[in-house]
Amino acid sequence: MAATLGTAITPAEAAAPFAPRGNNRRPRHLVAASRSQAAPARRFVLRACASPIATADAPDETVTEPSVEPALETKLSKLACPICYCPLVGASDQSGDTSSLECSSCKKVYPNKQDYWDLTVAVGSTEYSESMPAITELFRTPLVSFLYERGWRQNFKWGGFPGLEREFETAIAYLKPTIGGTIVDASCGSGLFSRLFVKSGLYSLVVALDFSENMLKQCNEYLRQESISDERLALVRADISRLPFMNGSIDAVYAGAAIHCWPSPACAVAEISRVLRPGGVLVASTFVADVIPPAIPLLRIGRPYVSQITGYNTFLSEVEFEDLCKACGLVDFKFVRNGSYIMFSATKAN
Ligand SMILES: C[S@@+](CC[C@H](N)C(=O)[O-])C[C@H]1O[C@@H](n2cnc3c(N)ncnc32)[C@H](O)[C@@H]1O
Repeated sequence: MAATLGTAITPAEAAAPFAPRGNNRRPRHLVAASRSQAAPARRFVLRACASPIATADAPDETVTEPSVEPALETKLSKLACPICYCPLVGASDQSGDTSSLECSSCKKVYPNKQDYWDLTVAVGSTEYSESMPAITELFRTPLVSFLYERGWRQNFKWGGFPGLEREFETAIAYLKPTIGGTIVDASCGSGLFSRLFVKSGLYSLVVALDFSENMLKQCNEYLRQESISDERLALVRADISRLPFMNGSIDAVYAGAAIHCWPSPACAVAEISRVLRPGGVLVASTFVADVIPPAIPLLRIGRPYVSQITGYNTFLSEVEFEDLCKACGLVDFKFVRNGSYIMFSATKAN
């Protein structure tokens, strides 16, 4: 049943042509960005936006701010308003610190939350609040975020997950055509893979994205502890079903141990397909529940009830993942299996 990868490469081999990044101690962009919110804002336009639908011009009163650091400009140029998918414009205060982001088209303001940019649709609403399915809410708690890399994630080995090193190695082999570009670590949790992607030096930008505020805080904590430079890293809070990126702007999406937690795998995969450039690659690992094939019809009957109650979208099979990818325009489906663990890759059709 298991498929094998053609030529697996080790992370060290894959990283060889790229010098590992040193311990750059520059201030974290989001910490710096939170200061002096009340100060009068100077405005700058974030360039290099290449979406076919991102046609809105920047407001007339804006001027190009030459002092924006190139790394920050690159990061922000990859982000888009999750409502209209148009480019975001940053505002900096008099000291030059970047604070909130604003959509160049609908003018919605996305606040800076110190540890991350909050690019969720409902951010800023005062009366409305939305609950996600139980599994998503569970990962928002401080306790689970704290425990995640302190035992919780390690337990996945009982489901067949081979461990971070092997998972990373397999992922990099699948991701090879996208090396040098921008990768989104979708549902990054506490950032275990985001850190590996940054440390490998294989990508020009790593976007660590999750819906959980506490996971992102934990992620920042680990980055600080490990003195990992934030130069090529952006931390973003977003819903997987409403990604804050422009059409075709992302080279790779990695989603480790996450699909079973997503409220709608179909909406999420469709959204991932939207943001991937042609030839861009999705690599995802998750649990499948087809280890006992005769049980599949029963699982199919029970699945909607379990999902409705728990929000937990398990019980997908590898055939269903392939089908879903294909339905969303992702082709060349490949996978490896071990027990209920699957890691698959699919490529955005040209
Ligand atoms: C099991 S963790 C996976 C963490 C990490 N990628 C890994 O490989 O261990 C699942 C993650 O999915 C995130 N998640 C759940 N619902 C989400 C949503 N709607 N949008 C984005 N992330 C979501 C959770 O916050 C959690 O961090």
